Amino acid sequence: MAQGRQKTRLPLRDLSSKFPPIYGKLSVMPLLKIVHYPEPVLLTVGKPVSDEMFGNGFAGTIDNMFETMYRAGGVGLAAPQVGVSRRFFVMDVPLENGVPNKLVFVNPEILHVEGEQTGDEGCLSFPGLYQTVKRDMRVIVRAQDVQSEKFEMDLDGLAARCVLHETDHCDGIVFLDRMTVLKRELAKRKIKHLQKTGKWE
Ligand code: NI
Repeated sequence: MAQGRQKTRLPLRDLSSKFPPIYGKLSVMPLLKIVHYPEPVLLTVGKPVSDEMFGNGFAGTIDNMFETMYRAGGVGLAAPQVGVSRRFFVMDVPLENGVPNKLVFVNPEILHVEGEQTGDEGCLSFPGLYQTVKRDMRVIVRAQDVQSEKFEMDLDGLAARCVLHETDHCDGIVFLDRMTVLKRELAKRKIKHLQKTGKWE
């Protein structure tokens, strides 16, 4: 998920503090390519991450997704957005005091939702497009971490919005699908315009 355009916009942070010195310069790790709508992988249900996929470079892929997300100014990035049709995502919705909160969700399952929130949403696969989306206010999610350990987490507000947005990506659902008919038509028209003027690849 991209940062919102209004109050939910978070200040851009100095990336150099984000990564332990082991990585050295940011350029050491090649960034992943973020695919844009309507790339078919974005509209495809991702396959579960199997037990064998943990280890074997999986942690490196996760690090790379975080770096790609930070560099693009996002707060969440799902595997299908980097062309991998699997069920996992990374997110960092900073805590209220601005402290980073790096989280990895593998094979996420939404166990419970309640309440409602309405706010602006963006998506790194829809560059420059922000639209109002209604979401649940609170979610309880079960997932595995990067080491395949199962956990459950109870989140609300922007973090809940982000978990729902990214879990949707794992299901081949994009935020266009969550808009009202009217807003979706407006968004599609804007995308067409951006495509015509070469601002959308
Ligand atoms: Ni997105």
